[in-house]
Amino acid sequence: MESRTPPALRFGVTWSIVARPDPHSYADDAQPRTRSFDWTARVDFDARVLTCAITLTFTEPAAGGSLDLDTRGLAIDEVTDASGAPVPYTLHPVEPILGRRLEIAVPAGAASIRVRYRTSPEASALQWLTPEQTLGAHPYLFSQCQAIHARSMIPCQDTPSIRQTYTATLDVPAELRGLMAAAWRGREVRGSGPGARAIERFEMPQPIPPYLLAVAVGDLVSRDVSERCRVWAEPAQIDAAAWELGVVEDQLRTAEALFGPYDWERCDLLVMPPSFPYGGMENPRLTFLTPSLLAGDRSLVSVLAHELAHSWTGNLVTNANAEHFWLNEGFTVFAERRIVEALEGEEIGALHAALGYERLKQAFAQLEDHPDLTRLRTHLAGVDPDEAFSAVPYEKGYLFLRALEAAAGKEPFDALLAAWLRDHRFGAATTDDFLALVERALPGLLGRVDAEAWVDGPALPATYREPRSRRLDAVRELAAKGAAPAPEAAKAWTPAEWQLYLEAMPKPSPLSVCRELEERYALTGSKNLEIAVSWLVLACESGYEPVLPRAREVLGSIGRMKYLKPLYRALVKRAETRDLARELFALYRDRYHPIARDMVGGLIA
Ligand code: BES
Ligand code: ZN
Repeated sequence: MESRTPPALRFGVTWSIVARPDPHSYADDAQPRTRSFDWTARVDFDARVLTCAITLTFTEPAAGGSLDLDTRGLAIDEVTDASGAPVPYTLHPVEPILGRRLEIAVPAGAASIRVRYRTSPEASALQWLTPEQTLGAHPYLFSQCQAIHARSMIPCQDTPSIRQTYTATLDVPAELRGLMAAAWRGREVRGSGPGARAIERFEMPQPIPPYLLAVAVGDLVSRDVSERCRVWAEPAQIDAAAWELGVVEDQLRTAEALFGPYDWERCDLLVMPPSFPYGGMENPRLTFLTPSLLAGDRSLVSVLAHELAHSWTGNLVTNANAEHFWLNEGFTVFAERRIVEALEGEEIGALHAALGYERLKQAFAQLEDHPDLTRLRTHLAGVDPDEAFSAVPYEKGYLFLRALEAAAGKEPFDALLAAWLRDHRFGAATTDDFLALVERALPGLLGRVDAEAWVDGPALPATYREPRSRRLDAVRELAAKGAAPAPEAAKAWTPAEWQLYLEAMPKPSPLSVCRELEERYALTGSKNLEIAVSWLVLACESGYEPVLPRAREVLGSIGRMKYLKPLYRALVKRAETRDLARELFALYRDRYHPIARDMVGGLIA
């Protein structure tokens, strides 16, 4: 074998920084680099296992030596070269956050290697649902790979700095559809009767970071809503989904006018089962969306705008690792609000921004003991990215970009944005890449906005001034007084104003105010879950008990962490409802996604 630095040294500070640029991956710059992979997976719902083979092809023939892959919970059956000859490998001990390093001794000259393996029923990327957890009578499987769960599905260099194209074959029960965030290349049924299987083929011609690998298998049907946009859902939900998300083509055209051509050809959407832990996930060509978006009035479609915006910010220009996550999410919130502004007007955009600012202040308060996580550029060696997740990269990132825009002027800033998307297209970027671009394009701007305080300082720079507007001030003043709005005022409120008001209300508020709000505005019954949850949090923290049945219903019917987290937290806060929180968690925990289960478990412990 080639001369290798001994393991002890490689974990030394200098070495790991040089060779392993991503603190959440064993991917090593000095080793072969995956250019593409071919994946086959047989889906076994009884065993909750994927039986797989993957061939990783390198950018160039290997010089010979070690290749470190990321894995978590994978049972490795065999590693071979292109001729089928066995290749030696070592599966190293489990590391708490990273998983297990699979070290393969790649022969000199090898252009690829092949691994046969099985996933674990506890694979962190996968949720296996029983028919009872769906709207129909069939089981369901879906993946969620961001941030570092792809490694529980495929052995890979699981870092966003290594883009890969792929081909894939899913072998699923014939009564189900298999979908991937990729181009569909056909379906072939084998056998007949109960044991029949369907082979579905896919190809991803655009290189992606591994966290954008995605699969879903279930009783799924689709409806075309434009030439390039198709909505997928379980049969019981397809009508509602196709209507609510029918705005997708309009949003996409608006985004193209703002950010340039859409580079991913198709733009399909999949409405997930209720346990999906996020609002949306920007899987390329097939965005995953929580069913809680289906409010019946299109009032929550800004989440769709957000995921579409990722087609540029995030999927085209990707954070090189989780320490630069704000490059994905801060830019995407910025782009999302540009789309919302173009479609619904500046005032609505400003309301969304104000709501974001409210959430940011709440995040700062919750991160009081972790000021490091209130910086835009973070240091995450030894930190699980799922645990570092907060509104900070989203809303502080957004505010930093707005500060740059305000100081530069809109046109120069738009030119900067265009240069960012052009220079790093299908690439991975760091915070320094962005700062260097700004300094080059608009010298002196960084100093004028105190960029250092934004990027590496905690919370917000002392110079930050909150934007104001008449409409916003009216809502905030009312909330500051702890008063209910007058019916004439409330009639004109948009969902964003309601949320802003409810989030800004004193907690606890007097029972009389809660009663008045409920009697006048029936907030408990709101079909807009953003409003409903903001209200339930206020009411629960205020001890207004008539809302408890609805809180119970929400916690039992939706697994989106954005709702579970504040609701459980509100129940835990009051001694009177603490046991209820524990009881509900015991009752519903098995419905939740493993990531959500861990998060809630930590909250109520
Ligand atoms: N990519 C994120 C979801 C995510 C982030 C999953 C980190 C795993 C790790 C997605 O684009 C997102 O931000 N979703 C938000 C939408 C909201 C900001 C409109 C959500 O889920 O609430
Ligand atoms: Zn996002």
